[in-house]
Amino acid sequence: MLKVLEHPLITHKLTQLRRKETITKDFRHLLDEISGLMAYEISGDLPLKEVAVETPMGVCATHEIVKEIVLIPILRAGLGMVDGIRNLIPTAKVGHIGLYRNEKTLAPVAYYSKVPENLGVAIVMLLDPMIATGGSASAAISCLKEEGASVIKLVCLVGAPEGVKKIESEHADVDIYLAALDEKLNGKGYIVPGLGDVGDRLFGTK
Ligand code: PRP
Ligand code: URA
Repeated sequence: MLKVLEHPLITHKLTQLRRKETITKDFRHLLDEISGLMAYEISGDLPLKEVAVETPMGVCATHEIVKEIVLIPILRAGLGMVDGIRNLIPTAKVGHIGLYRNEKTLAPVAYYSKVPENLGVAIVMLLDPMIATGGSASAAISCLKEEGASVIKLVCLVGAPEGVKKIESEHADVDIYLAALDEKLNGKGYIVPGLGDVGDRLFGTK
């Protein structure tokens, strides 16, 4: 399932993020805010269990979230999405998957993986701002499945149709959430109009 989250606040902040004049400090802040807003929208169907709590006035029959949430940013750019979501879900555990694209072949190269135990009983949110060819996200999903994950939500800001198709065909069981579905990839595998290189804009490396 692909869901494009078109909440006006998400769209407005994504517009600011896209602007080429947006400097690293503001880019980081906007990415943080958008990630939190997306997590709020996505968490609308989290399962709840019944609990009874004592308030200062008496007993209240109410609900709380039953499932563990695990956030998995794809390094580097996915790191920029963690804090905004953790502000809303502070009990979330965080794992990391390190992948970069080979500049010539655009194939993902894996260099790191450390994930929490018991992924099989958690709701896993895989975080990466961009789905371009889809190679990185697809490889990360395969890695998470090998580690036992069964419920995976892929949370990205901008996707290209080619990459979304790849993930839908290779991992039909994974829900994909975007803030925008863009037009296409250019010859170098960048999303057009996109945001440019998110890792570089977020960390100021270029
Ligand atoms: C970017 C982005 C994704 C990947 C998307 O990372 O954050 O992980 O490219 O491209 P794909 O869909 O074609 O695989 P990059 O490889 O630039 O690494 P970085 O985050 O370390 O800069
Ligand atoms: N990675 C990015 O950071 N931007 C793109 O447009 C494609 C891959």
